[in-house]
Amino acid sequence: MTTVPQVSSINSRPISQIAVIGAGLMGHGIAQEFASAGYRVRLHDVTNEQLESARTQIEQNLNLLASNAIIQEDNISQTLHRIQTSTELEAVAENADFVVEAVTENLPLKQQIFGKLDAICPPHTILASNTTALMPSQIGVNAERKDQILNTHYFNPPYLIPLVELIRSPDTSDETVEATFELLTAVGKTPAIIEKEALGFVGPRLQAALIREAFAIVEQGIASAETVDLVVRNSFGRRLSVAGPFEVFELAGWDLVLAAFEELYKDLNSASDINPLLRQMVESGKLGVKSKEGFYSWTDEKIQQLRERMNNALIQQAKDAK
Ligand SMILES: NC(=O)c1ccc[n+]([C@@H]2O[C@H](COP(=O)([O-])OP(=O)(O)OC[C@H]3O[C@@H](n4cnc5c(N)ncnc54)[C@H](O)[C@@H]3O)[C@@H](O)[C@H]2O)c1
Repeated sequence: MTTVPQVSSINSRPISQIAVIGAGLMGHGIAQEFASAGYRVRLHDVTNEQLESARTQIEQNLNLLASNAIIQEDNISQTLHRIQTSTELEAVAENADFVVEAVTENLPLKQQIFGKLDAICPPHTILASNTTALMPSQIGVNAERKDQILNTHYFNPPYLIPLVELIRSPDTSDETVEATFELLTAVGKTPAIIEKEALGFVGPRLQAALIREAFAIVEQGIASAETVDLVVRNSFGRRLSVAGPFEVFELAGWDLVLAAFEELYKDLNSASDINPLLRQMVESGKLGVKSKEGFYSWTDEKIQQLRERMNNALIQQAKDAK
């Protein structure tokens, strides 16, 4: 069965051709999402090896989704067929109606790519960045079409996490925001419009606050990293997937929250510098699974088990939401 995308448009031109720039962890999953919903996608990276690896990964992801009945089996070959790849930026961007940039998190690189995209793409094309923390006004400095630039911030893995933060700069037009909102909705995402640009938007800001306090707890010897993970996973982490922090505390009552936090806040970490423990870990090569050593020691088997645990839970949530 062919999935026919709903048509969203910019300047009355239908959006049908998508370009994704950067085919790494996020880029391949974003390309997959658009192709799976019926859009034609062109995917760009600097090497053919990376593009081949992205295609293999997309096929594996689609097989996983089909074996869990989240997509239909015949969607796999159709989706793969809709994705073309190229190491030439021009070939990928010249006919695009909507571009998502997902290259390495590096401001000068993103600024350079947006400058090139602005020169290559047709005038109606919307340019979106999947940056984790940078603002669209920073990324778009070299482009003329500032009204057609915004961020679409996906969460990993993009094919299992529905939310996309949609961040506008003061120059982004309402039409660009509306067209992007419609497009993301048409591919089955849940867009959240962030009205005022700020570093880290909503999701990364909240995660940064949580991990800052988690590091402080470990550094001060209050609890080990294992205990922090145990507490979060088996307590408020469970609630947070079904109710947001404001909903949770509205149930508790703000009077109770005020009484509980008045003393506690004085003791929380509010440092604007990176925790020395984090710097120390990076300097000593304790990067986590990448170097097989972080707060935990990692074997290939343990890494696989953690990935499977996370994927299985996210798949179950995706099934429940169907
Ligand atoms: N990893 C996450 O969980 C996550 C979540 C949300 C957003 N992001 C953001 O998404 C972006 C990509 O992150 P990632 O995790 O996919 O990184 P990644 O390293 O897996 O992929 C980046 C890709 O960009 C390619 N690239 C580098 N320079 C390029 C260029 N000049 N032209 C074309 N391609 C180029 C690299 O070859 C690589 O394949 C970053 O801005 C990151 O902050 C990451």
